[in-house]
Amino acid sequence: MQFFIDTASIEQIKEAKDFGLLDGVTTNPSLMAKEGITGKENIRNHYAKICDVVDGDVSAEVIATDFDGIMEEGRALAKIAPNIVVKVPMIKDGVKAISNFTKEGIKTNCTLVFSPGQAILAAKAGATYVSPFIGRVDDLTWSGMQLIHDIAEIYAIQGFDTLILSASIRNALHIVDAAKAGTDVVTSPLSAYMGLLKHPLTDIGLEKFLADHRKAKG
Ligand code: G3P
Repeated sequence: MQFFIDTASIEQIKEAKDFGLLDGVTTNPSLMAKEGITGKENIRNHYAKICDVVDGDVSAEVIATDFDGIMEEGRALAKIAPNIVVKVPMIKDGVKAISNFTKEGIKTNCTLVFSPGQAILAAKAGATYVSPFIGRVDDLTWSGMQLIHDIAEIYAIQGFDTLILSASIRNALHIVDAAKAGTDVVTSPLSAYMGLLKHPLTDIGLEKFLADHRKAKG
């Protein structure tokens, strides 16, 4: 399973990289806005900076929603660095664009996926990644994790190559459950990865080991 970080913050990306387990980065327009990055040129420069830090795939989302606009924007994003993956929303023109990007050899991440049917369309179009949003489904009191199970089952039965990139991860349990459901990638804030570290028995055990060591030393 690969670990991506879901942020546009260079500082957070560097911190995740320093932790030693970072495989890639996902961003979206909200995350770029959160970092105060606006305007085509600034956005492109920011993606270039991220790609300088990270060797793995970096998802860069298009803003256009019409086929020609998505193609133009996606091709330009793909030129920034070889590890750019063009992130395209699950809409009719988006699916058509993903199919075209696939033919052109440009990697894609189909985003805003909330149903197994949408995930089938993304895979049929040849998306490199599909991004089902766990947390946002949970927010509606449906099961985001059931969505991951369903997609994993369908992709296995059908032999689809598209990688399941579990997104809208809110906590460490989401990561564990997505792993059990067969996700290929999780993209998450750094805080959720750090949550995986936590167990009170680890803290208590370490405390005891160190105390015993101090005692034996006299
Ligand atoms: O990758 C998608 C993610 O950024 C959405 O997360 O927490 O806004 O639902 P959230």
